[in-house]
Amino acid sequence: ERENHINLPQLENKLAPQLWQLLVKASQAAEQRGWHLYLVGGAVRDLLLSEAATSTLMITDIDLVVDGFHKSADVGAGVELAKALQEIYPQARLDIHGAFQTAALLWHKDPELDSLWVDIATARTEFYPYPAANPEVEASSIRQDLYRRDFTINALALRLTSPRAGELMDFFGGLLDLQAKQIRVLHANSFIEDPTRIFRGVRFAVRFGFQIEAQTARYINYAIHSGVYDRTSQENSRTPALQTRLKAELKHILEAPYWLSALQLLEQLGALKCIHHDLQLDGRLLRKLRLLERCLHKFAIQETLIPWQISLEVLIAHLDGKYREKVAKNLQLPDDSITRLKKLSQTTSEVIELLPNCQFPSQIVNLLRTYDLETLILIALEGSCLIRKQIWKYLTTWANIQPLLNGNDLKQLGYKPGPQYRKMLDDLLAATLDAVIQNREEAEGFLAQHYPR
Ligand code: CTP
Repeated sequence: ERENHINLPQLENKLAPQLWQLLVKASQAAEQRGWHLYLVGGAVRDLLLSEAATSTLMITDIDLVVDGFHKSADVGAGVELAKALQEIYPQARLDIHGAFQTAALLWHKDPELDSLWVDIATARTEFYPYPAANPEVEASSIRQDLYRRDFTINALALRLTSPRAGELMDFFGGLLDLQAKQIRVLHANSFIEDPTRIFRGVRFAVRFGFQIEAQTARYINYAIHSGVYDRTSQENSRTPALQTRLKAELKHILEAPYWLSALQLLEQLGALKCIHHDLQLDGRLLRKLRLLERCLHKFAIQETLIPWQISLEVLIAHLDGKYREKVAKNLQLPDDSITRLKKLSQTTSEVIELLPNCQFPSQIVNLLRTYDLETLILIALEGSCLIRKQIWKYLTTWANIQPLLNGNDLKQLGYKPGPQYRKMLDDLLAATLDAVIQNREEAEGFLAQHYPR
């Protein structure tokens, strides 16, 4: 099964030239030290998936595993390799994390490498020298590294160092699963150990149009029924690291064009329980999400609106009011978002009660301008068709209307600057909104009538 080979010139053609150069330099640095270097994870998967495509792959995230012994027990081979690369690329930022096993090199909008993130991990966990040429030892070391990963399609390694550069290390049938379009987990406990993998599995399935393999689906089901969500959902905040990862996965899903299908698959698997055990993608929530999708198209220009976050707020808002704040806090949403969800029951009833009493656009504007955009979207999705129409009309039209005259105009008309300007401008705006006045001339007439000098 380890006979597979990737044609390296073909790989070179698929990568941006600077990225390819980086891999070449990393391999040389590893070879000089007698180490093996592998490309692993998503890049290998995407490379194999794009076999037919001739265009350059957009890769912004590279995972490398170096397998080698370092004479100093304080430094992992991965860290040393990262340091060696940083000498070649001084513009990259070096982050060393974990004990001394992993390092990351980051290029942020670099003129040559654009934005690139290279993670370099060390495969060897036992620190003893071994003959680099011993394929048995070597295979067991990279195999061990791959075995702790999530799915077979992500557990492929491509050897970059010679001898046998270009060899594809496939210990778990990843290549077959790629061909069969299957998401298969490596071992039964994977989801218990890391429930966020349920979300990852769904993300890959929907993104690539793959199926979650039957046994894997049963493992997911088992993990959920054994209460894995107690660790991820609101009842328990003892596991912030897990919450952080869950939030990152949710962000990833909700940002993707396929987010709605992904949520539907999560629902089928019962995995929305990981957000809160009451959360269900029922018809009502689905309707709200579809409306949201339409509304996000309308407001795409709004810089302040973070689409994935508002989608997540819609999910949380679907829960009973008493749970919302807790769930938002556990998922570490920003403070304004937590406050918004906390007050949502109240703001929703306010608006739903008061909006129908508004007869004129100016009254609607006066009522709605006290709420932020996100709150109004959440209320619109909750409200009746009429409420929604008025909020949309407010957001798309009325909120953007300016009074026909501004402070300078008032000054030129001979009004003495002072606090009454505010009131005058408000009155002018209301008259404009309600179409009482339609042009400057009428605006001046309006002032003369209501504010005689
Ligand atoms: N990984 C894992 N379990 C997780 C997260 C990540 O096993 N909970 C492993 C996977 O093998 C994955 C690798 O770490 O391939 C890198 O993770 P990440 O960069 O998040 O995923 P990619 O596979 O690169 O996916 P994407 O293309 O979406 O970035």
